[in-house]
Amino acid sequence: MRHFITLLDITAEEARHILNRAAIIKRMLREGKEHKPLAGKTLGMIFDKASTRTRVSFEVGMFQLGGHALFLHSSDTQLGRGEPIEDAARVLSRMLDGIVIRTYGHDMVQRFAAHSLVPVINALTDLTHPCQILADVFTFEEHRGSIQGKTVAWIGDGNNMAHSWINGSVSFGYKLNIACPEGYSPDLKLLAAARELGADVTLSDDPLLAARDADLVTTDVWASMGQEEEQRIREKAFAGYQVDKNVMLQAQPDALFMHCLPAHRDQEVAADVIDGAQSVVWDEAENRLHAQKALLEFLLA
Ligand code: CP
Ligand code: NVA
Repeated sequence: MRHFITLLDITAEEARHILNRAAIIKRMLREGKEHKPLAGKTLGMIFDKASTRTRVSFEVGMFQLGGHALFLHSSDTQLGRGEPIEDAARVLSRMLDGIVIRTYGHDMVQRFAAHSLVPVINALTDLTHPCQILADVFTFEEHRGSIQGKTVAWIGDGNNMAHSWINGSVSFGYKLNIACPEGYSPDLKLLAAARELGADVTLSDDPLLAARDADLVTTDVWASMGQEEEQRIREKAFAGYQVDKNVMLQAQPDALFMHCLPAHRDQEVAADVIDGAQSVVWDEAENRLHAQKALLEFLLA
């Protein structure tokens, strides 16, 4: 029984296997071939935060794999009335075959997993968003081939997405250049742990330097879910960190632009970049479905 709480819960070989399966699963869907390895299985999905892509991709993915998904907003369950996480994990995992959780504290998912009899998947915490990196690397490779040895530029907040890009450098062997304003760096303990495992990461406060010769430029919102009241302060701190044409000009001429979405045009990304020829954000969003179906197959089949 395996969990997927960060990318480091699976080996580099397993990560590669999942992306290979994602390509096959995507092709089967396009060709109208049924693939139902999860017939009779149920997936519980506990969400404490809003979601469009993650919720829909897991629900649709589970249906297409022959299983069933239950969406549980935690405020509608006894968790919202204070039932201990450990008790919820013991009970739910006796009925379900897998559990997806989107919440605030990363420790909530870890505590749940420690008492779960079935695989637990992190669908985003304040610390990491590993499912997104599976889709993002898959998308890069569909367009440009192997990401190994390529350069990824992360411009913006040292947030959950930045952390998962850091861990992804261990799994997928790309170089990651991060540019964050002072005070918004990624978690240095997570960075140090990933470097120990071979992550190739540079950290600076210079977006143009980070983007130089990059094969992929990526960013995310300046204020994540739960940080809404910091929006104004963050807009000031992140002025100068917008991924605009000038940033893209530093990168390779064929560099791609990605954003996990939802995006704020003309804040973290200029409208002409996200809506421009280098942007692959719609493929990236669609690939959440295919990559997570491969993850579900890996964990539950
Ligand atoms: N990228 C992402 O996780 O989107 P949602 O918040 O819509 O699930
Ligand atoms: N960093 C963002 C990602 C949303 C998918 C957040 O946590 O709100």
